[in-house]
Amino acid sequence: MDSILVKGGGPLNGDIPIAGAKNACLTLMPATLLSEEPLTLTNAPRLSDIRTMTLLLQSLGAEVTALQDGKVLAMSSHALTSQRAEYDIVRKMRASILVLGPLLARYGYAEVSLPGGCAIGARPVDLHLKAMEALGAEMDLRDGYVHAKAPAGGLRGGEFEFPFVSVGATENALLAATLANGTTVLKNAAREPEIVDLAHCLQKMGAQIEGEGTSTITIQGVDRLGGATHSVVTDRIELGTYMLAPAICGGEVTCLGGRIELVESFCEKLDAAGISVEQTEKGLKVARRNGRVKAVDVTTEPFPGFPTDLQAQMMALMCTAEGTSVLEEKIFENRFMHAPELIRMGARIDVHGGHATVKGVERLKGAPVMATDLRASVSLILAGLAAEGETLVSRVYHLDRGYENVEEKLSALGANIERVEGQ
Ligand code: UD1
Repeated sequence: MDSILVKGGGPLNGDIPIAGAKNACLTLMPATLLSEEPLTLTNAPRLSDIRTMTLLLQSLGAEVTALQDGKVLAMSSHALTSQRAEYDIVRKMRASILVLGPLLARYGYAEVSLPGGCAIGARPVDLHLKAMEALGAEMDLRDGYVHAKAPAGGLRGGEFEFPFVSVGATENALLAATLANGTTVLKNAAREPEIVDLAHCLQKMGAQIEGEGTSTITIQGVDRLGGATHSVVTDRIELGTYMLAPAICGGEVTCLGGRIELVESFCEKLDAAGISVEQTEKGLKVARRNGRVKAVDVTTEPFPGFPTDLQAQMMALMCTAEGTSVLEEKIFENRFMHAPELIRMGARIDVHGGHATVKGVERLKGAPVMATDLRASVSLILAGLAAEGETLVSRVYHLDRGYENVEEKLSALGANIERVEGQ
Protein backbone atom coordinates (compact mmCIF):
# COMPACT_ATOMS: atom_id res chain seq x y z
CA MET A 1 0.00 0.00 0.00
CA ASP A 2 1.35 3.40 -0.96
CA SER A 3 1.89 6.29 1.45
CA ILE A 4 2.37 10.00 0.90
CA LEU A 5 5.25 11.83 2.53
CA VAL A 6 4.73 15.54 3.11
CA LYS A 7 7.31 17.97 4.45
CA GLY A 8 5.74 21.10 5.84
CA GLY A 9 7.13 24.23 4.33
CA GLY A 10 6.48 27.67 3.03
CA PRO A 11 3.73 29.25 0.99
CA LEU A 12 2.22 27.72 -2.14
CA ASN A 13 1.95 29.68 -5.37
CA GLY A 14 0.80 29.10 -8.91
CA ASP A 15 -2.03 27.57 -10.92
CA ILE A 16 -3.65 24.22 -10.24
CA PRO A 17 -5.95 22.42 -12.69
CA ILE A 18 -9.27 21.11 -11.35
CA ALA A 19 -10.65 17.90 -12.86
CA GLY A 20 -14.18 16.90 -13.79
CA ALA A 21 -16.31 15.87 -10.83
CA LYS A 22 -15.99 12.30 -9.62
CA ASN A 23 -19.50 12.32 -8.20
CA ALA A 24 -20.99 13.70 -11.41
CA CYS A 25 -19.12 11.18 -13.56
CA LEU A 26 -20.29 8.30 -11.36
CA THR A 27 -23.93 9.16 -12.02
CA LEU A 28 -23.42 10.12 -15.69
CA MET A 29 -21.79 6.79 -16.55
CA PRO A 30 -24.85 4.65 -15.66
CA ALA A 31 -26.92 6.90 -17.96
CA THR A 32 -25.39 4.89 -20.82
CA LEU A 33 -27.54 1.94 -19.71
CA LEU A 34 -30.66 3.89 -20.71
CA SER A 35 -29.88 4.01 -24.42
CA GLU A 36 -28.79 1.83 -27.32
CA GLU A 37 -26.84 4.73 -28.73
CA PRO A 38 -23.37 5.86 -27.66
CA LEU A 39 -22.81 8.24 -24.74
CA THR A 40 -19.45 9.99 -24.61
CA LEU A 41 -18.23 11.85 -21.55
CA THR A 42 -15.41 14.38 -21.84
CA ASN A 43 -13.52 16.01 -18.94
CA ALA A 44 -13.74 12.73 -17.01
CA PRO A 45 -11.48 12.49 -13.95
CA ARG A 46 -8.87 9.71 -13.87
CA LEU A 47 -9.65 7.97 -10.62
CA SER A 48 -9.98 4.47 -9.24
CA ASP A 49 -13.72 4.98 -8.55
CA ILE A 50 -14.23 5.70 -12.26
CA ARG A 51 -12.35 2.49 -13.10
CA THR A 52 -14.62 0.61 -10.67
CA MET A 53 -17.74 2.00 -12.38
CA THR A 54 -16.17 1.06 -15.76
CA LEU A 55 -15.76 -2.54 -14.57
CA LEU A 56 -19.32 -2.62 -13.28
CA LEU A 57 -20.79 -1.36 -16.56
CA GLN A 58 -18.60 -3.79 -18.51
CA SER A 59 -19.84 -6.65 -16.30
CA LEU A 60 -23.34 -5.79 -17.51
CA GLY A 61 -22.23 -5.99 -21.14
CA ALA A 62 -21.73 -2.27 -21.80
CA GLU A 63 -18.75 -1.16 -23.85
CA VAL A 64 -16.67 1.44 -22.03
CA THR A 65 -13.47 2.68 -23.62
CA ALA A 66 -11.18 5.18 -21.95
CA LEU A 67 -9.64 7.51 -24.54
CA GLN A 68 -7.14 10.38 -24.24
CA ASP A 69 -5.52 8.88 -21.16
CA GLY A 70 -8.92 8.43 -19.48
CA LYS A 71 -10.20 11.97 -19.97
CA VAL A 72 -12.79 10.77 -22.47
CA LEU A 73 -15.09 7.82 -21.80
CA ALA A 74 -16.77 6.39 -24.88
CA MET A 75 -19.66 4.17 -23.80
CA SER A 76 -22.25 2.09 -25.56
CA SER A 77 -24.95 -0.19 -24.19
CA HIS A 78 -26.49 -1.45 -27.42
CA ALA A 79 -26.42 -5.03 -26.25
CA LEU A 80 -26.36 -5.61 -22.50
CA THR A 81 -25.81 -9.17 -21.36
CA SER A 82 -26.69 -8.97 -17.66
CA GLN A 83 -28.91 -7.02 -15.30
CA ARG A 84 -27.06 -8.16 -12.19
CA ALA A 85 -24.53 -5.98 -10.32
CA GLU A 86 -22.36 -8.39 -8.37
CA TYR A 87 -21.31 -7.98 -4.75
CA ASP A 88 -17.60 -8.14 -5.65
CA ILE A 89 -17.82 -4.80 -7.44
CA VAL A 90 -20.63 -3.12 -5.50
CA ARG A 91 -18.88 -3.62 -2.14
CA LYS A 92 -15.96 -1.53 -3.42
CA MET A 93 -18.13 1.48 -4.16
CA ARG A 94 -21.57 2.50 -2.95
CA ALA A 95 -22.28 4.52 -6.08
CA SER A 96 -22.73 1.15 -7.83
CA ILE A 97 -26.37 1.31 -6.67
CA LEU A 98 -26.85 3.93 -9.42
CA VAL A 99 -27.20 1.19 -12.05
CA LEU A 100 -30.47 0.11 -10.41
CA GLY A 101 -32.70 2.86 -11.85
CA PRO A 102 -31.40 2.68 -15.44
CA LEU A 103 -31.55 -1.16 -15.61
CA LEU A 104 -35.05 -1.20 -14.20
CA ALA A 105 -36.19 1.52 -16.59
CA ARG A 106 -34.79 -0.10 -19.73
CA TYR A 107 -35.15 -3.82 -18.96
CA GLY A 108 -37.88 -3.91 -16.31
CA TYR A 109 -35.62 -5.99 -14.10
CA ALA A 110 -32.45 -5.57 -12.05
CA GLU A 111 -30.49 -7.34 -9.36
CA VAL A 112 -28.07 -5.19 -7.42
CA SER A 113 -26.04 -6.29 -4.44
CA LEU A 114 -26.57 -4.24 -1.27
CA PRO A 115 -23.47 -2.09 -0.80
CA GLY A 116 -22.73 -3.11 2.78
CA GLY A 117 -20.88 -1.14 5.46
CA CYS A 118 -19.05 2.07 4.95
CA ALA A 119 -16.48 3.89 7.04
CA ILE A 120 -18.47 7.10 7.37
CA GLY A 121 -21.69 5.73 8.81
CA ALA A 122 -24.44 3.23 8.10
CA ARG A 123 -25.44 4.76 4.74
CA PRO A 124 -28.50 2.67 3.88
CA VAL A 125 -30.10 2.62 0.42
CA ASP A 126 -33.74 2.55 1.56
CA LEU A 127 -34.59 5.82 -0.19
CA HIS A 128 -33.32 4.48 -3.51
CA LEU A 129 -35.64 1.50 -3.12
CA LYS A 130 -38.63 3.58 -2.02
CA ALA A 131 -38.22 5.88 -5.00
CA MET A 132 -38.27 2.86 -7.35
CA GLU A 133 -41.42 1.61 -5.60
CA ALA A 134 -43.04 4.99 -6.23
CA LEU A 135 -42.46 4.27 -9.94
CA GLY A 136 -44.33 0.98 -9.60
CA ALA A 137 -41.39 -1.39 -9.08
CA GLU A 138 -41.59 -4.36 -6.73
CA MET A 139 -38.55 -4.79 -4.56
CA ASP A 140 -37.46 -7.99 -2.91
CA LEU A 141 -34.37 -8.29 -0.71
CA ARG A 142 -32.85 -11.77 -0.97
CA ASP A 143 -29.33 -13.20 -0.53
CA GLY A 144 -27.85 -9.73 0.00
CA TYR A 145 -29.27 -8.53 -3.31
CA VAL A 146 -32.08 -6.18 -4.25
CA HIS A 147 -34.29 -7.92 -6.82
CA ALA A 148 -36.28 -5.18 -8.53
CA LYS A 149 -39.09 -5.74 -11.01
CA ALA A 150 -41.06 -3.15 -12.98
CA PRO A 151 -44.77 -3.70 -13.69
CA ALA A 152 -45.74 -5.25 -17.03
CA GLY A 153 -45.34 -2.47 -19.60
CA GLY A 154 -42.54 -0.81 -17.63
CA LEU A 155 -42.09 1.74 -14.86
CA ARG A 156 -44.95 4.19 -14.29
CA GLY A 157 -44.54 7.87 -13.56
CA GLY A 158 -45.32 8.72 -9.95
CA GLU A 159 -44.85 11.27 -7.23
CA PHE A 160 -42.21 10.80 -4.56
CA GLU A 161 -41.29 13.12 -1.74
CA PHE A 162 -37.92 12.30 -0.21
CA PRO A 163 -38.22 12.39 3.60
CA PHE A 164 -34.76 14.01 3.63
CA VAL A 165 -32.39 15.05 0.90
CA SER A 166 -30.38 12.26 -0.72
CA VAL A 167 -28.07 12.93 -3.64
CA GLY A 168 -27.81 9.32 -4.80
CA ALA A 169 -31.51 8.48 -4.42
CA THR A 170 -32.45 11.63 -6.37
CA GLU A 171 -30.05 10.57 -9.14
CA ASN A 172 -31.40 7.02 -9.25
CA ALA A 173 -35.00 8.24 -9.41
CA LEU A 174 -34.16 10.79 -12.09
CA LEU A 175 -32.40 8.19 -14.23
CA ALA A 176 -35.29 5.72 -13.88
CA ALA A 177 -38.07 8.26 -14.49
CA THR A 178 -36.70 9.33 -17.89
CA LEU A 179 -38.08 6.14 -19.48
CA ALA A 180 -41.16 5.66 -17.25
CA ASN A 181 -44.68 5.89 -18.65
CA GLY A 182 -46.11 9.29 -17.75
CA THR A 183 -45.00 12.08 -15.46
CA THR A 184 -42.85 11.78 -12.35
CA VAL A 185 -42.57 14.51 -9.73
CA LEU A 186 -39.66 14.30 -7.28
CA LYS A 187 -40.12 16.51 -4.23
CA ASN A 188 -37.46 17.49 -1.69
CA ALA A 189 -34.98 16.46 -4.38
CA ALA A 190 -31.26 17.13 -4.00
CA ARG A 191 -30.05 20.31 -5.72
CA GLU A 192 -26.35 19.54 -6.04
CA PRO A 193 -24.52 20.70 -9.21
CA GLU A 194 -23.93 17.01 -10.01
CA ILE A 195 -27.72 16.50 -10.25
CA VAL A 196 -28.00 19.49 -12.59
CA ASP A 197 -25.17 18.05 -14.68
CA LEU A 198 -26.92 14.69 -14.89
CA ALA A 199 -30.19 16.37 -15.92
CA HIS A 200 -28.39 18.33 -18.65
CA CYS A 201 -26.80 15.18 -20.05
CA LEU A 202 -30.13 13.31 -19.98
CA GLN A 203 -31.80 16.26 -21.72
CA LYS A 204 -29.19 16.01 -24.49
CA MET A 205 -30.15 12.33 -24.79
CA GLY A 206 -33.78 13.39 -25.28
CA ALA A 207 -35.17 13.26 -21.73
CA GLN A 208 -37.90 15.72 -20.70
CA ILE A 209 -36.82 17.18 -17.36
CA GLU A 210 -37.75 20.42 -15.63
CA GLY A 211 -36.76 21.94 -12.30
CA GLU A 212 -33.24 20.51 -11.97
CA GLY A 213 -31.32 22.55 -9.38
CA THR A 214 -34.55 23.16 -7.43
CA SER A 215 -36.16 20.87 -4.87
CA THR A 216 -38.94 19.78 -7.25
CA ILE A 217 -37.94 17.96 -10.42
CA THR A 218 -40.57 16.99 -12.97
CA ILE A 219 -39.82 14.32 -15.55
CA GLN A 220 -42.04 13.48 -18.48
CA GLY A 221 -41.12 9.92 -19.48
CA VAL A 222 -40.17 9.26 -23.12
CA ASP A 223 -40.14 5.96 -25.09
CA ARG A 224 -36.45 5.98 -25.84
CA LEU A 225 -33.30 7.99 -25.32
CA GLY A 226 -30.59 8.66 -27.89
CA GLY A 227 -26.85 9.23 -27.67
CA ALA A 228 -25.00 12.35 -26.56
CA THR A 229 -21.62 13.88 -25.84
CA HIS A 230 -21.33 15.66 -22.52
CA SER A 231 -18.55 17.41 -20.61
CA VAL A 232 -18.45 16.55 -16.89
CA VAL A 233 -18.93 19.54 -14.57
CA THR A 234 -15.93 20.79 -12.54
CA ASP A 235 -15.28 18.94 -9.28
CA ARG A 236 -16.36 21.40 -6.58
CA ILE A 237 -14.87 19.20 -3.85
CA GLU A 238 -11.45 19.00 -5.48
CA LEU A 239 -11.80 22.75 -6.07
CA GLY A 240 -12.58 23.47 -2.41
CA THR A 241 -9.78 21.17 -1.27
CA TYR A 242 -7.12 22.96 -3.30
CA MET A 243 -8.53 26.37 -2.35
CA LEU A 244 -7.58 25.41 1.19
CA ALA A 245 -3.92 24.78 0.28
CA PRO A 246 -2.91 28.50 0.16
CA ALA A 247 -5.37 29.17 2.99
CA ILE A 248 -3.40 26.80 5.23
CA CYS A 249 0.12 27.40 3.92
CA GLY A 250 -0.03 31.00 2.73
CA GLY A 251 0.68 32.12 -0.83
CA GLU A 252 -1.62 32.69 -3.78
CA VAL A 253 -3.10 29.93 -5.90
CA THR A 254 -5.50 30.01 -8.85
CA CYS A 255 -7.74 26.95 -9.17
CA LEU A 256 -8.20 26.71 -12.92
CA GLY A 257 -11.78 26.39 -14.12
CA GLY A 258 -13.15 27.12 -10.63
CA ARG A 259 -16.48 28.96 -10.45
CA ILE A 260 -17.81 30.68 -7.37
CA GLU A 261 -21.36 29.33 -7.77
CA LEU A 262 -20.06 25.80 -7.20
CA VAL A 263 -18.64 26.70 -3.78
CA GLU A 264 -20.55 29.75 -2.58
CA SER A 265 -21.29 28.75 1.02
CA PHE A 266 -17.72 27.46 1.38
CA CYS A 267 -16.36 30.82 0.12
CA GLU A 268 -18.45 32.68 2.71
CA LYS A 269 -16.70 30.70 5.45
CA LEU A 270 -13.29 31.30 3.88
CA ASP A 271 -14.01 35.01 3.78
CA ALA A 272 -14.94 35.01 7.48
CA ALA A 273 -11.71 33.13 8.21
CA GLY A 274 -9.65 35.81 6.45
CA ILE A 275 -9.09 34.14 3.08
CA SER A 276 -9.71 36.16 -0.06
CA VAL A 277 -11.29 34.51 -3.10
CA GLU A 278 -11.52 36.27 -6.43
CA GLN A 279 -13.23 35.04 -9.59
CA THR A 280 -10.91 35.60 -12.55
CA GLU A 281 -11.22 34.51 -16.15
CA LYS A 282 -8.95 31.54 -15.45
CA GLY A 283 -10.70 30.39 -12.28
CA LEU A 284 -10.70 31.17 -8.57
CA LYS A 285 -7.71 33.05 -7.15
CA VAL A 286 -7.23 32.33 -3.45
CA ALA A 287 -4.89 34.03 -0.98
CA ARG A 288 -4.60 34.36 2.75
CA ARG A 289 -5.04 37.91 3.95
CA ASN A 290 -2.54 39.21 6.51
CA GLY A 291 -2.16 37.40 9.80
CA ARG A 292 -3.47 34.12 11.17
CA VAL A 293 -6.64 32.47 9.93
CA LYS A 294 -9.64 33.19 12.18
CA ALA A 295 -11.82 30.47 13.70
CA VAL A 296 -15.25 30.06 12.07
CA ASP A 297 -18.11 27.69 12.88
CA VAL A 298 -19.32 25.35 10.15
CA THR A 299 -22.44 23.20 9.78
CA THR A 300 -22.64 20.74 6.90
CA GLU A 301 -25.87 20.70 4.89
CA PRO A 302 -27.16 19.59 1.50
CA PHE A 303 -26.34 21.95 -1.39
CA PRO A 304 -26.33 24.97 -1.39
CA GLY A 305 -25.12 24.59 2.22
CA PHE A 306 -21.58 23.79 3.31
CA PRO A 307 -20.64 20.39 1.78
CA THR A 308 -19.94 17.46 4.09
CA ASP A 309 -17.22 16.44 1.63
CA LEU A 310 -15.22 19.57 2.61
CA GLN A 311 -15.70 19.23 6.38
CA ALA A 312 -12.48 17.26 7.05
CA GLN A 313 -10.38 19.68 4.98
CA MET A 314 -11.97 22.68 6.73
CA MET A 315 -11.12 21.09 10.06
CA ALA A 316 -7.46 20.95 8.98
CA LEU A 317 -7.62 24.72 8.39
CA MET A 318 -9.29 25.36 11.73
CA CYS A 319 -6.55 23.42 13.58
CA THR A 320 -4.19 26.41 13.27
CA ALA A 321 -6.80 29.18 13.36
CA GLU A 322 -6.90 31.88 15.98
CA GLY A 323 -9.69 30.99 18.40
CA THR A 324 -12.13 28.11 18.80
CA SER A 325 -14.41 26.76 16.10
CA VAL A 326 -17.28 24.28 16.20
CA LEU A 327 -17.84 21.99 13.21
CA GLU A 328 -21.22 20.32 13.07
CA GLU A 329 -21.74 17.29 10.82
CA LYS A 330 -25.39 16.93 9.86
CA ILE A 331 -25.20 14.59 6.83
CA PHE A 332 -23.25 11.57 8.08
CA GLU A 333 -22.78 10.18 11.55
CA ASN A 334 -19.25 9.11 12.37
CA ARG A 335 -17.53 11.45 9.94
CA PHE A 336 -14.86 12.76 12.29
CA MET A 337 -12.36 9.91 11.93
CA HIS A 338 -9.74 12.39 10.80
CA ALA A 339 -9.90 14.11 14.22
CA PRO A 340 -7.79 11.53 16.14
CA GLU A 341 -5.22 11.63 13.34
CA LEU A 342 -5.07 15.44 13.42
CA ILE A 343 -4.70 15.21 17.21
CA ARG A 344 -1.58 13.09 16.59
CA MET A 345 -0.22 16.13 14.78
CA GLY A 346 -0.80 18.37 17.79
CA ALA A 347 -4.32 19.60 17.03
CA ARG A 348 -6.69 20.25 19.95
CA ILE A 349 -10.02 18.71 18.97
CA ASP A 350 -12.85 17.45 21.12
CA VAL A 351 -15.50 15.37 19.35
CA HIS A 352 -18.89 15.05 21.03
CA GLY A 353 -21.64 13.44 18.98
CA GLY A 354 -22.13 15.32 15.75
CA HIS A 355 -19.94 18.24 16.84
CA ALA A 356 -16.20 18.79 16.90
CA THR A 357 -14.72 21.69 18.85
CA VAL A 358 -11.35 22.78 17.52
CA LYS A 359 -9.07 25.04 19.54
CA GLY A 360 -6.54 26.52 17.17
CA VAL A 361 -2.83 26.01 17.88
CA GLU A 362 0.05 28.08 16.43
CA ARG A 363 1.53 25.20 14.44
CA LEU A 364 0.89 21.51 13.84
CA LYS A 365 3.74 19.00 14.03
CA GLY A 366 4.39 16.28 11.47
CA ALA A 367 3.57 12.69 12.46
CA PRO A 368 2.81 9.31 10.90
CA VAL A 369 -0.97 9.24 10.35
CA MET A 370 -3.47 6.96 8.68
CA ALA A 371 -6.07 7.85 6.05
CA THR A 372 -9.47 6.49 7.04
CA ASP A 373 -11.57 7.65 4.12
CA LEU A 374 -11.31 9.73 0.98
CA ARG A 375 -11.80 13.24 2.34
CA ALA A 376 -10.06 12.45 5.65
CA SER A 377 -6.93 11.45 3.73
CA VAL A 378 -6.66 14.74 1.88
CA SER A 379 -7.28 16.70 5.09
CA LEU A 380 -4.20 15.01 6.57
CA ILE A 381 -2.16 16.01 3.53
CA LEU A 382 -3.30 19.63 3.88
CA ALA A 383 -2.43 19.55 7.58
CA GLY A 384 0.96 18.03 6.76
CA LEU A 385 1.73 20.80 4.27
CA ALA A 386 1.42 23.36 7.04
CA ALA A 387 3.01 21.29 9.82
CA GLU A 388 6.54 21.47 11.14
CA GLY A 389 8.54 18.43 9.99
CA GLU A 390 7.46 15.30 8.15
CA THR A 391 4.03 13.72 7.89
CA LEU A 392 3.64 10.23 6.45
CA VAL A 393 0.04 9.53 5.42
CA SER A 394 -0.53 5.80 5.00
CA ARG A 395 -3.40 3.94 3.28
CA VAL A 396 -3.64 6.47 0.49
CA TYR A 397 -5.69 4.13 -1.69
CA HIS A 398 -8.59 6.11 -0.25
CA LEU A 399 -7.08 9.24 -1.76
CA ASP A 400 -6.71 7.66 -5.19
CA ARG A 401 -10.47 7.10 -5.29
CA GLY A 402 -11.11 10.83 -5.55
CA TYR A 403 -7.99 12.89 -6.34
CA GLU A 404 -5.93 12.50 -9.51
CA ASN A 405 -2.17 13.17 -9.39
CA VAL A 406 -2.37 14.87 -6.02
CA GLU A 407 1.42 14.86 -5.54
CA GLU A 408 2.10 16.30 -8.99
CA LYS A 409 -0.54 18.99 -8.64
CA LEU A 410 0.66 20.16 -5.22
CA SER A 411 4.38 19.86 -6.13
CA ALA A 412 3.77 22.25 -9.01
CA LEU A 413 2.70 24.84 -6.41
CA GLY A 414 5.98 24.37 -4.52
CA ALA A 415 4.82 21.77 -1.98
CA ASN A 416 7.28 19.18 -0.74
CA ILE A 417 5.25 16.02 -1.28
CA GLU A 418 6.02 12.60 -2.68
CA ARG A 419 4.47 9.16 -2.98
CA VAL A 420 6.27 6.34 -1.21
CA GLU A 421 5.40 3.08 -2.88
CA GLY A 422 4.44 -0.06 -1.02
CA GLN A 423 4.35 1.17 2.59
C1 UD1 B 1 -23.20 11.55 -2.26
C2 UD1 B 1 -21.75 11.71 -2.61
C3 UD1 B 1 -20.90 11.86 -1.34
C4 UD1 B 1 -21.46 12.98 -0.47
C5 UD1 B 1 -22.94 12.80 -0.23
C6 UD1 B 1 -23.56 13.98 0.52
C7 UD1 B 1 -21.57 10.45 -4.65
C8 UD1 B 1 -21.02 9.25 -5.36
N1 UD1 B 1 -21.31 10.55 -3.36
O1 UD1 B 1 -23.31 10.34 -1.51
O2 UD1 B 1 -19.56 12.14 -1.71
O3 UD1 B 1 -20.78 12.98 0.77
O4 UD1 B 1 -23.63 12.67 -1.48
O5 UD1 B 1 -23.32 15.17 -0.16
O6 UD1 B 1 -22.18 11.30 -5.27
N2 UD1 B 1 -29.42 7.97 3.24
C9 UD1 B 1 -30.36 7.10 3.73
N3 UD1 B 1 -30.99 6.26 2.86
C10 UD1 B 1 -30.73 6.28 1.53
C11 UD1 B 1 -29.77 7.17 1.02
C12 UD1 B 1 -29.13 8.01 1.91
O7 UD1 B 1 -30.62 7.07 4.93
O8 UD1 B 1 -31.34 5.48 0.80
C13 UD1 B 1 -28.73 8.91 4.17
C14 UD1 B 1 -27.21 8.74 4.18
O9 UD1 B 1 -26.82 7.73 5.08
C15 UD1 B 1 -26.78 10.12 4.62
C16 UD1 B 1 -27.80 11.04 3.96
O10 UD1 B 1 -28.92 10.21 3.66
O11 UD1 B 1 -26.87 10.24 6.01
C17 UD1 B 1 -27.35 11.71 2.68
O12 UD1 B 1 -26.77 10.74 1.83
P1 UD1 B 1 -26.79 10.90 0.24
O13 UD1 B 1 -27.07 12.32 -0.10
O14 UD1 B 1 -27.67 9.85 -0.33
O15 UD1 B 1 -25.29 10.56 -0.11
P2 UD1 B 1 -24.73 9.67 -1.28
O16 UD1 B 1 -25.56 9.84 -2.50
O17 UD1 B 1 -24.47 8.29 -0.79
